[in-house]
Amino acid sequence: MNNNVIVNADIRKGTINKNIYGHFSEHLGRCIYEGIWVGEDSPIPNTKGIRNDVLEALRQIKVPVLRWPGGCFADEYHWKDGVGPREQRKRMVNTHWGGVVENNHFGTHEFMLLCELLECEPYICGNVGSGTVQEMSEWVEYMTFDGESPMANWRRENGREEPWKLKYFGVGNENWGCGGNMRPEYYADLYRRYQTYVRNYGDNKIYKIAGGANVDDYNWTEVLMKNAGWLMDGLSLHYYTIPGDFWLGKGSALDFPEDEWFITMKKALHMDELITKHSTIMDKYDPEKRVGMIIDEWGTWFDVEPGTNPGFLYQQNTIRDALVAGLHFNIFHNHCDRVQMTNIAQTVNVLQAMILTEGEKMILTPTYHVFDMYKVHQDAELLAVDSTFGEYEYNGEKLPQVTVSASRDAAGKVHISLCNIDHRQEAVLDLELRGIDAAGAKVSGTIITADQMNAHNTFEQPDTVKPAEFTGAAVQGNKLAIKLPAMSVVTIAVE
Ligand code: AHR
Repeated sequence: MNNNVIVNADIRKGTINKNIYGHFSEHLGRCIYEGIWVGEDSPIPNTKGIRNDVLEALRQIKVPVLRWPGGCFADEYHWKDGVGPREQRKRMVNTHWGGVVENNHFGTHEFMLLCELLECEPYICGNVGSGTVQEMSEWVEYMTFDGESPMANWRRENGREEPWKLKYFGVGNENWGCGGNMRPEYYADLYRRYQTYVRNYGDNKIYKIAGGANVDDYNWTEVLMKNAGWLMDGLSLHYYTIPGDFWLGKGSALDFPEDEWFITMKKALHMDELITKHSTIMDKYDPEKRVGMIIDEWGTWFDVEPGTNPGFLYQQNTIRDALVAGLHFNIFHNHCDRVQMTNIAQTVNVLQAMILTEGEKMILTPTYHVFDMYKVHQDAELLAVDSTFGEYEYNGEKLPQVTVSASRDAAGKVHISLCNIDHRQEAVLDLELRGIDAAGAKVSGTIITADQMNAHNTFEQPDTVKPAEFTGAAVQGNKLAIKLPAMSVVTIAVE
């Protein structure tokens, strides 16, 4: 079957919230420490302790929002241990992630500085699992209260006169698991209680995010929406792409057979079904779609790189990860009526990272490049697309060979992003443009692809997988005749 696509440049379906391009940085392995924070005395060039090379790379992809401090770490984190003179800060054990010592050198002030330097919104996840209501309430007061109060005064003593702007606040993380092993009914009640004391001070208005479901736990979404829906602005969802079994072996990031490529694509595509079904439940209680779906953890999760600390979740990143990222963005765009934010796990050195570091060296992963290619969709208007796709068949199983999404930006430029997930065959596409004069338009594009399924960048060869100019689109009247190589992600601009 041929691949046929119609892009309706004059039918808008809603705004693609730029926060769909959000990130997540946990106190896990070498994400915060080494990956972002090296300290002011480090020989690695830094701005007040934050490494400059990573800052510069993240600025380039326009990070809109950054989630911190966890993850599972969030429900064991006591924020007061992470403020004040660094050398006097309490040391703790990071029980979830390798049992290493956490010296609390990266705390609230350092995180807020990072967000200021990136010009992104902070998204802080509070501690419900092992923290008190008072502790959560005082954290918000510490960060956002302008007047005279114990917490605001303490912030000033610690060197910050003005309150920070804080919009996004999560009330716990994975409270069905590492965040307290709760039943949804119990968490819904706790959510109601904790969120009451997450105050809006002055003109700082907090967007409250309730801890959401794991994968296809639709009952969790049902119970939360029914019992607390009107008290939340967002409800989270977590889903990771794991080709194998979470406990018995997830599969290697680099050394994998063909069938694991196929399974990875199939599992990544499952995100579409999850969003659809959770949205349907949310629609029942919130037909106006006021409550955003916040997919604040997603991405590939493979076995750790051999020889690395199993608690550090360090994995390499290949062209397969690039396809997973592109697939997810196409799905997120197409659900932009409900999906208001997503945060890939995680920014540096952990899981499906944008950046890997080794001492003073830094490389950009194939996933990073997809974020860069797709940033044109941030805050653009989603366009209606009609499509029929050929099949990608492997061992008798079938998937659509191509996925697509399209948007129009504020300047009127149309961007079409396409993923050919087939690891062997190119995809030939007939793409009709409606509502735009294709014949008179300037068409350009960027592609990321590779010859090997496990092509990746290393510290020795950092540019093996990187974007290049796409020359596979020929204008024919109001149509584009497109050839997508196997294993490719492409973004086409029409202006
Ligand atoms: O991202 C790694 C971990 O995965 C997070 O800490 C947790 O929330 C999830 O289970």
